[in-house]
This record gives sequence, C-alpha cells and structure tokens, in this order.
Amino acid sequence: MDTKVFLERDIERAAAILRGGGLVGIPTETVYGLGADGLNPVAVRAIFQAKGRPQDNPLILHIPEASWLERYCEDVPDTACRLAERFWPGPLTMVLKCKRRTPEELETLWGGPVCSYTHFGPRVIPDVVTAGLDTVGMRCPAHPLCREIIRLAGVPVAAPSGNTSGKPSPTTARHMLEDMAGKIDAILDGGPCCVGVESTIIDLTCTPPRLLRPGGITLEQLKGVLGEVAVDPAITRLMGEGEQPRAPGMKYRHYAPRAPVTVVKGAPERGAAYIREHLSHTRWDGVICFEEYVPLFMGGDETRPVFSLGPAGDKGEHARRLFDALRAMDNTDVKRVWAQCPDEGGIGLAVANRLNKAAGFHIIEI
Ligand code: TXA
Ligand code: MG
Repeated sequence: MDTKVFLERDIERAAAILRGGGLVGIPTETVYGLGADGLNPVAVRAIFQAKGRPQDNPLILHIPEASWLERYCEDVPDTACRLAERFWPGPLTMVLKCKRRTPEELETLWGGPVCSYTHFGPRVIPDVVTAGLDTVGMRCPAHPLCREIIRLAGVPVAAPSGNTSGKPSPTTARHMLEDMAGKIDAILDGGPCCVGVESTIIDLTCTPPRLLRPGGITLEQLKGVLGEVAVDPAITRLMGEGEQPRAPGMKYRHYAPRAPVTVVKGAPERGAAYIREHLSHTRWDGVICFEEYVPLFMGGDETRPVFSLGPAGDKGEHARRLFDALRAMDNTDVKRVWAQCPDEGGIGLAVANRLNKAAGFHIIEI
C-alpha cells in the first residue's frame, strides 16, 4: 500500500478515506493518532493490525464537540460537563459509561419488535473499540486540522497514538511515516505536535475520579475543578505481579527505545554531574539531558549521541522534545541511555511517567 501524505488543502480527501473505512494518520495537539471511523468495526480492527496492538487494549474516541458525548455515553456526570467546559477542546480524555441502545432504537434499527432481554442491548460503540469494556475514553482534541477532519468525516474517530506498539508516540508526520509507511492509507501532516505527550486520562466512573494517565492537562488543574482526585499507582511505580492497572494500556511496556534507559532524578546540576561520573567513556552511552548540560557530554574526542530536552526550567519543552529524543536514540547504535528528568509538578508528572516507563522504572534518585 502506498501511504499518501496530505497537507491541509487535501483535508477533504483524507476525510473521505475515513468515511470509506480507511486508516488515516491524524495530527492532534498531543501526538499523532492512527484514525478510523469509530463506528465501523472492520476499520477499527485494521488499526490493531497496523499497530500490532493487543486486542484487549481499548481505543479512545475523538469527537469535535462536547455535545456528542450524549450520543455515545450514558449517565454523563456533572463532573464531565465541568471538565469539558474548562479543558475541551484540549488534551484531556474522560472515561465514561458506554451508552446502550434502547429497545425502541433497536426496533427501528432491526425493523421489528425486540424481546425484553435487550434492556441490556448492544452498546452504541462497537466492542472492538472498547475491548468489550462497559466504559469508553472520550476526547475532544484542540488541533484545528484534527477538529476539521472529524467534522468532515461526520463520525467519531477512534485513534490510538500512531506508533507501532511499544515504540515512542509520534510527534511529527515523519515519525508516523517511519512506523506506518505502507501500512495505512494516508497521513494528514499538521506540523509538529505542540503538547508532545499523550492526553491526560481521567476515569469519571468512580469516586473520587481517578487519574489513569498524566498528560497535557495537569493533576493540579484537574484538582482545581474536581477537588479530590485519586492517582492510579501505575503512574508512579511498576505494577506488581497480579496487579491490574485501570487503563489496560498501562500494563504494556511502552515508549521503549532499543537500549536500556537509566533515569536520573533530583536537582538538575547534581543529576548531570552524576551522569558525567558514571558514563562510560565510549560512544556506546547516549545522553538525554537539559540544554545547559549538553557541553558536559560532548567535545574532546567523545562522539556520543546527546539530545537536549530544552532548558532545565521549561517542562513544556521537555514534553515536546521527549519522544523525538527517544526515537533519535533508536536511530543510533548506543547500548545504554542516561536521561535527566524534571520534577513531577505540572506537566513534569507526564514527562516523568513516560521516561520512567521507557526505563522500566529503572530510576536513580540523587
Ligand atoms: O493524546 C492521546 O490521547 C492520543 C491522541 C492520538 O489522541 N491517543 C492515545 O491513544 O494516546 P492510546 O490508545 O495510545 O492510549 C489510550 C490509553 C490506553 O492506555 C488505553 O488502555 C486507555 O487509554 N483506555 C482506553 N479506553 C479506556 C477505558 N475505557 N478505560 C480505561 N482506559 C482506557
Ligand atoms: Mg499509545
């Protein structure tokens, strides 16, 4: 298959592919997604195949505006409305109860009377999207081209991140081509993603609401609207044998570069000095560090790969650059990666979570 790359002027062609059951790489403000018509089970199945994604890992549905929630979700709580008002369109996914078809709707659909067991009738969203769960992740993205393509397609778009399973998420159309060329119909190039890490996921079906994945909307912002928010333990530590994270995707080793990663946490200057001390003096050790410390790892006759996350104080920039740095490491032949990590305040929690996962939670605190 020849994967076409579309620009904004071709957006209608990209939308037509979605309507026709094809797969399109779509830009969002967080990361690129691998989109398909979320109401077409055959199209959605193809997403799993292109990514090599386990079938038990549900997808999230992208909608152009909050008013679409009622079509696919049941008992939408007041908390969802408050969050949507404050943070949508934007990098926030809400887990809500799936809507089931009423007996009346089924009668219309099937053209005849239905028996009473259909009180528990089929969900509106195909099971392949939700991996059979009773809940669904709903997101209203902010990227203008993403909103436009969903509106033109006229359907909710199911889209996981557009990487091959186990690879860092794509933050440019080029990243997505690296993983998906020949496997999907097209990619809509909307430029580099301005958040850089995936959306925040909050489960609103439990009390208190539970943060399942940190992202562009911070824990502090969520608490500002919701008051109490529980934090899923899978965010900050490795899950033990037999423990089940609430977001099925959290159990898979994500964001994994080929070389093992060691994350160094603590005051940036001390962290950089620690890495400098423990680094082997060969090109086999790569470094991901804050801008200020790049010179510490380069120069002289040392030629190791060094990637900057941006200035130590700019966590937004760390988020934007992280996946590119992890991918860049994969394009070298390093045997080990050392990475500096911001503190967990604000979007630092999301950056730390992705880095810790890339490192299999191999973390040194200094
Ligand atoms: O920013 C994003 O959210 C990007 C862009 C493309 O929108 N999408 C994304 O999708 O990151 P994905 O599939 O890579 O990650 C979605 C996560 C997975 O870990 C999945 O297990 C979890 O959301 N998830 C989906 N539906 C869920 C549900 N009903 N309950 C709990 N977790 C769910
Ligand atoms: Mg993903």
